[in-house]
Amino acid sequence: MEGVRVGFLGVGYFVPPKILSNADLEKMVDTSDAWITTRTGIKERRIAADNVATSDLAKEAALAAIKDADLTPLDIELIIIATITPDMQFPSTACIVQDKIGAKKAACFDISAACAGYLYAIAIAEQFIKAGIYKNALVVGAEKLTAITDWSDRNTCVLFGDGAGASVMGKVEGDKGILSVYLGADGTQHDILKLPAGGSRLPASHKTVDERLHYLKMSGSELFKHAVKIMTEAGERAAKIAGLNSPQEIDCVIPHQANVRILNAVAKKIGIAEEKIYFNIERYGNMSSASTAVALAEAVIAKRVKKGDIILLDAFGSGLVWGAIIIKW
Ligand code: UT7
Repeated sequence: MEGVRVGFLGVGYFVPPKILSNADLEKMVDTSDAWITTRTGIKERRIAADNVATSDLAKEAALAAIKDADLTPLDIELIIIATITPDMQFPSTACIVQDKIGAKKAACFDISAACAGYLYAIAIAEQFIKAGIYKNALVVGAEKLTAITDWSDRNTCVLFGDGAGASVMGKVEGDKGILSVYLGADGTQHDILKLPAGGSRLPASHKTVDERLHYLKMSGSELFKHAVKIMTEAGERAAKIAGLNSPQEIDCVIPHQANVRILNAVAKKIGIAEEKIYFNIERYGNMSSASTAVALAEAVIAKRVKKGDIILLDAFGSGLVWGAIIIKW
């Protein structure tokens, strides 16, 4: 429906309290605080307890966002959870979260688009609301990445953390809300970041466990090259579709937090001042679909994003998948 603007009615986030610092990692694998800090920007990350699953993190973020929107769980009509670490293969984590928060009237499903998952979920919710099918949608990016982290692999274990970010979306008045959405994918690169076993290709067996195939595998430097190029192009495309005259009109960039070096390179290429990028990677590491969701909620709560600001969400991840969204706050 032309003319219907969709925006954010409320935001919230939750990260588990336990901190794993670079100094802690130095005791676990052959690494150093200096290497991790200079190569990634990460100083510490949050680790969920053994008895905490992705839905538990999502629940806390969801309740905070619903409260921020001045709604109750019973008002929620659709729940989309973006995650690559669902509680289990099925049912969807969205159904489990529906139960945990008592959002009995909501339709529920998960989507798997890795680090761009929160942006894909926002794009889907926008369409449901625009089409008049639902009045609102709860969109959550939630991950317990430490459940699929190989703590003996220094190439990956220093990078990831756990957390959840949520937003309630709905119709908004005036000129605010989502101005443009650009999504993309390149399945030819599906091999460079993956969880090899546990699906229909390699069901769980003693062999898959012995070979450590239930842990995330990543070709970091390959991804790095793609990330800079793709996040730059995606950001520029979204800005163009939104009708911005120049990227300088963007007040704040809320990117997927994979690596400080990637984000600085993207900002430079797009022509946006580094001060406009919101970083939380130093405190949380890479939380896949939760990264952008938590960053947006934090930036709004900290008033780093203010009414009327133009913001760019820009994310990239396993698939490969990517997305960029321009919002007038
Ligand atoms: O969120 C989804 C998308 N994810 C990404 O976009 C991640 C993109 N990739 C990256 O951020 C970077 O590639 C990494 C941070 C993962 C790695 O940084 P890099 O500068 O690309 O390092 P590298 O993989 O080329 O490794 C350089 C060296 C290697 O040693 P040699 O072979 O040169 O002797 C690694 O073994 O650094 C070594 N290394 C480490 N050293 C200390 C790798 N991990 C570590 C470590 N501590 N934790």
